[in-house]
Amino acid sequence: MSEKVNFGSTKVLKTKKIKLVSDIFSSVSNKYDLMNDAMSLGLHRLWKERMYDISKLKNTDNVLDLATGTGDIALKYLSKKASINITCLDENQEMLDICKNRLIDNGFVKNITFIKSPAETAKLIKNNYSLATVAFGFRNFTDHSKALKNIYDSILPGGRLIIMEFTTPKNLLIKNIFEKYTHFMIPRMGKILADDYDSYRYLAESIATYYSPEEVTEMFSETGFINTRYETLVGNMVTIHIGFKC
Ligand SMILES: C[S@@+](CC[C@H](N)C(=O)[O-])C[C@H]1O[C@@H](n2cnc3c(N)ncnc32)[C@H](O)[C@@H]1O
Repeated sequence: MSEKVNFGSTKVLKTKKIKLVSDIFSSVSNKYDLMNDAMSLGLHRLWKERMYDISKLKNTDNVLDLATGTGDIALKYLSKKASINITCLDENQEMLDICKNRLIDNGFVKNITFIKSPAETAKLIKNNYSLATVAFGFRNFTDHSKALKNIYDSILPGGRLIIMEFTTPKNLLIKNIFEKYTHFMIPRMGKILADDYDSYRYLAESIATYYSPEEVTEMFSETGFINTRYETLVGNMVTIHIGFKC
């Protein structure tokens, strides 16, 4: 029988999850940027700035941004260093289209490649990228180990992977506030601002059923990444992982 995986707080067949996740992002794509600012009170911009700092981006980097969504990371990195090469990968065409148009609107048209594919099965050139990034996308993947292996193979020796993701805080008081906010407030904001309660309920549930930072670190190591470490932001609500390929 086919394996089941978490889809929010329900279990679904592994073969069905990609389509279910994709339907969610098709549904939220038009309001995605507005909702990001509203839900995080604008804080996601600071978190992405911190992710950029940790990336130590070089002018010559060949970057693979997975789960690129509407292109926040690509836009930030290109705005900081326009000479990089960047590949924007996402499973969802609507998100990828918004990303492409945002990059064009900001004058970025050269050295950019778009790939529409799940991270798990994307046909990526081996030993090619000096930096791979995933911001708030890893949680949605269907097969995390398979995606990590695919990313690892595509990174050059000496390259690094950075993953930023929501995590459930350990401190009981902060955890309580965080869970009330994500489970109660966010779906209601989704209803008011995007007329979409269910997609934002999925978002809260997908955080609650996601791995701990220690588990993700373990997965990095099992894949072969070395010098893996993580940093937590805002009382453990967000974690940034880094690992290197040797
Ligand atoms: C929450 S958005 C993050 C977008 C962007 N990185 C950001 O930080 O704003 C998650 C993105 O992951 C994409 N995604 C979900 N599952 C995926 C998979 N298996 N492979 C590639 N992309 C995936 C979704 O289509 C969506 O665009």
